[in-house]
Amino acid sequence: MNTKLKWGVLGTGMIAGKFAGDLPNSNAGVLVASGSRTQESADHFAGQYGGRGVEGYEALINDPEVQAVYNCLPNGLHHEWSIAAMRAGKHVLCEKPFALNAGEAEQMFAVAEETGRVLVEAFMYRAHPQTQKLIEMVRGGVIGDLRLIRSNFTFFREPSMDDARYHPSQGGGAIMDVGTYCVNMIRQLAGSEPTEMQAVAHLYQGDGVDDYAAGVMSFGNDLLTTFTCGMTVDSDQGTYIAGTEGVIEVDAFWFCENSFTINKGDKKEVVKVAEERPLYAVEADAFAAAVLDGEDPWVSKEDTLGNMRVMDVLRASAGVPVE
Ligand SMILES: NC(=O)c1ccc[n+]([C@@H]2O[C@H](COP(=O)([O-])OP(=O)(O)OC[C@H]3O[C@@H](n4cnc5c(N)ncnc54)[C@H](OP(=O)(O)O)[C@@H]3O)[C@@H](O)[C@H]2O)c1
Repeated sequence: MNTKLKWGVLGTGMIAGKFAGDLPNSNAGVLVASGSRTQESADHFAGQYGGRGVEGYEALINDPEVQAVYNCLPNGLHHEWSIAAMRAGKHVLCEKPFALNAGEAEQMFAVAEETGRVLVEAFMYRAHPQTQKLIEMVRGGVIGDLRLIRSNFTFFREPSMDDARYHPSQGGGAIMDVGTYCVNMIRQLAGSEPTEMQAVAHLYQGDGVDDYAAGVMSFGNDLLTTFTCGMTVDSDQGTYIAGTEGVIEVDAFWFCENSFTINKGDKKEVVKVAEERPLYAVEADAFAAAVLDGEDPWVSKEDTLGNMRVMDVLRASAGVPVE
């Protein structure tokens, strides 16, 4: 791969900065422009990370230099702006959760097909060799037959109505924000879709988004799994994958810290993965490989749609307000 994919970043929030900050460490990506609602914020971002600051999302997606758009707007804007970017001729890496619901996700993929653009959900952890090795080893039977998985992703941040995560209309809530990772990882380890699922949630201020939640999913009654997630909870970040012959512990799998531990009886093996590039650089390279070299995306359309369908059922079962 000799050419570099030219990126435009849509929105200048927290994760936009992480992605743009990692991009110089990728092999195949370069930031050429960032689009914000205000010129001031776009210029500030460009001053920090390079490229040009562009006022307005419409201008960014129509920027002739941009080949790929990173849609890292709030969840409620993924559908509208990913579709608009593809219609403007751009490939799109769209943040998780991919859309407000499975119906929106289907529409987005229909436009990808119609326009011939690459569209991938930005589950960055899935592009990383640590996750790929973990999935391969579990599916290969390293801990025997899979029986139980429990996965936890929480953080504590002071609730704020300035944060789109607290707005039902923006697809807010803990299940959408972080539970989606647990659901995605568990489905991948299972290698199939859950046959039964149910969630319970604590609603912020009684009728708001789910600020913390718990879910169960079973896969044909062989594999039983639980997950917990939260935006107002400080806890451990462990995922435990247990089979008939051992248990694997992964600390905060979504950060991909290059190792996980396999425990079998009193034997402990730390599996290490060599990866020098930071996480979002790995993701940017995987996206460039899909666009420039025609490689299969690291998260397939079927995987994204499966995840969204499960999330729809889980949120409905927990009584999460949806607009
Ligand atoms: N993959 C990951 O590691 C990861 C991590 C965190 C978040 N995410 C996902 O990335 C997306 C953005 O998350 P974030 O944490 O970066 O959010 P954020 O810091 O709040 O940034 C979102 C940006 O979207 C723009 N925006 C447009 N309309 C907005 C509105 N009504 N309210 C708030 N912002 C609005 C703003 O950019 P301008 O002011 O420049 O227009 C804002 O800076 C979400 O979908 C989230 O789930 C992914």
